Amino acid sequence: MTQQAKPRILVVHRLPAEVETRLARDFAAELNSEDRQIGAAEIVSRAKDFDALLISSMFKCRADVINALPASIRMIATFSVGTDHIDIPAAKAKGIAVSNTPDVLTDATADVTLLLMLGAARGASWGDRMVRGNRWPAPSLVSPLGLDVSGRRLGILGMGRIGQAVAARACGFGMELHYHSRKRLSASLEQGGKFHARFEDMLPHCDFLSINCASTPETRGIVNVKSLSLLPPDAILVNAARGDIVDDDAVIAALRSGKLAAAGLDVFKGEPNIDPRYREFENVFMLPHLGSATRNTRIAMGMKAVDNLEDFFSEKNPRDGL
Ligand code: DGY
Repeated sequence: MTQQAKPRILVVHRLPAEVETRLARDFAAELNSEDRQIGAAEIVSRAKDFDALLISSMFKCRADVINALPASIRMIATFSVGTDHIDIPAAKAKGIAVSNTPDVLTDATADVTLLLMLGAARGASWGDRMVRGNRWPAPSLVSPLGLDVSGRRLGILGMGRIGQAVAARACGFGMELHYHSRKRLSASLEQGGKFHARFEDMLPHCDFLSINCASTPETRGIVNVKSLSLLPPDAILVNAARGDIVDDDAVIAALRSGKLAAAGLDVFKGEPNIDPRYREFENVFMLPHLGSATRNTRIAMGMKAVDNLEDFFSEKNPRDGL
């Protein structure tokens, strides 16, 4: 970075201590060490004293927010791989650079995808509630029974970095792999998976359908009444990507009718205000968006966001610039 005045960074959320220490050392950073929930109006009004914002997917940077930002803001660094919370064309139109934090959360998010598959298939949250609530099930060899994960068929929607890491883990469970992505991957990245050029063609092969794609205009609502109807009996849906990729009404109807045997959900449309109907189902295993939430991963994400700010203010292209 140039040795002139340190770039001024408005940090919207509390970050891991290691990351805040680096920000405080290398930038004129205003931290949010109390983790106060700060709304867009306050950020916009304070932003005139800053050169960049460091946000996350919890802070929605829609076009109206971006358009209201003062001219001093030249970069938005997001602490997330997903960028659906940022109107990137609006930022570009204003000359604001945007970066994200890919790669470093791939393993943690793939791990959570497997947790969702296992938790949903084996009734983990139901079982936990029974033990905690001192409601041990009546002795029986035929109830409760879950569904197998090992040796079953897995369809991955979105075979990017996270989808590929899910596939690698699923190989360890002896699963038969299928995937749908914009493009077919090379043989080594496919890991024996069968490519389906059309999402609809993959669905009849999915004992598990795992959503690992980005939320884009093409994928929003792609898991809907029609796609769910193409799944085989007893299918399980897991989502570690974004809630708006599924149509909640369709998923809830499929759970009610038994078309879906179970679901594992780490992400929800409108989170934290999720569709309350999900809470009715014993066979839905839910987490509060924990995909990247490990100590090391969150430190690595923060460091990557700071690397990108450093690149930008050293007049280099941010390494994860969008
Ligand atoms: C991401 O990085 O996109 C995770 O979902 C956390 O927002």
